[in-house]
Amino acid sequence: PLVPTGDLVAAAAAAHCAVAAFNVVTLEHVEAVVAGAESAAAPVVLQVSENAVKFRRGRLHPLARAAVAVAERAAVPVGLHLDHVQSDDLLRQAADAGFSSVMYDAARLPYAENLAATRAAADWAHAQGLWIEAELGQVGGKNGEPPLDAHAPGARTDPAEARAFVADSGVDALAVAVGSTHAMTTRTAALDHDLIKRLAAALDVPLVLHGSSGVPDDELTAAVTGGITKVNIGTALNIAFTGAVREYLGAHPKAVDARTYLAVGREAMAREVERTVQLLGRATS
Ligand code: G3H
Ligand code: ZN
Repeated sequence: PLVPTGDLVAAAAAAHCAVAAFNVVTLEHVEAVVAGAESAAAPVVLQVSENAVKFRRGRLHPLARAAVAVAERAAVPVGLHLDHVQSDDLLRQAADAGFSSVMYDAARLPYAENLAATRAAADWAHAQGLWIEAELGQVGGKNGEPPLDAHAPGARTDPAEARAFVADSGVDALAVAVGSTHAMTTRTAALDHDLIKRLAAALDVPLVLHGSSGVPDDELTAAVTGGITKVNIGTALNIAFTGAVREYLGAHPKAVDARTYLAVGREAMAREVERTVQLLGRATS
């Protein structure tokens, strides 16, 4: 069934494990994520990012409705989350489109602007009954330098600043910069585990790890032990999908029916989801 994302994150926190949140772009992604979670008999979050909406020609509802329809019939609890939202227009479509949660991303802005924008988004989201995640990284711009990408290699979230940011913005969860980087195609990221523990001790909201495709399994498990409660994964699904499709088309140069290779790609994504959900669902502390 479709359930509130916030409930899944709270349940993961209580069980000392993490909930996996997968970015979906096509109907095949949606079906694969739910099938993989069903195989693992564990809850999962489907995420639609602002970039995915741009890919869907700027329209949220077609993919969102597909996600809702698949989630409602799932054998495991499924949350639906709107990810990396920068546009206020998109933010305001969330509740109507069936989302129970959003990640509002103003991390590119200097601290004071990030806080002001996030606080306004949090006030709006809470009035709609939405759970809201935001992001704070090593924010540049304080001394005249340009703002940094919060997930650039080397960017880090400061625990004291994060504590103030959460208190002053009222968000329900915080995405933190602890060594992961978005869109990595190798699992070579080394996380700052001491920082994760210090952030977990400083904050009373769940911590979210972004860019998790580049994080090795043992690093991910250690991150969950340290206090990460929601793990966002996108690129790893596309690596699995594209690799399987490439291999199939290489072996079947005369194939024309899209269903033949989409089925192979969907299955490869489902196995990747199953593997990751099992890894994250194990209690680690
Ligand atoms: O919000 C989405 C995630 O941070 C995905 O990152 O594609 O690097 O796994 P990834
Ligand atoms: Zn992300």
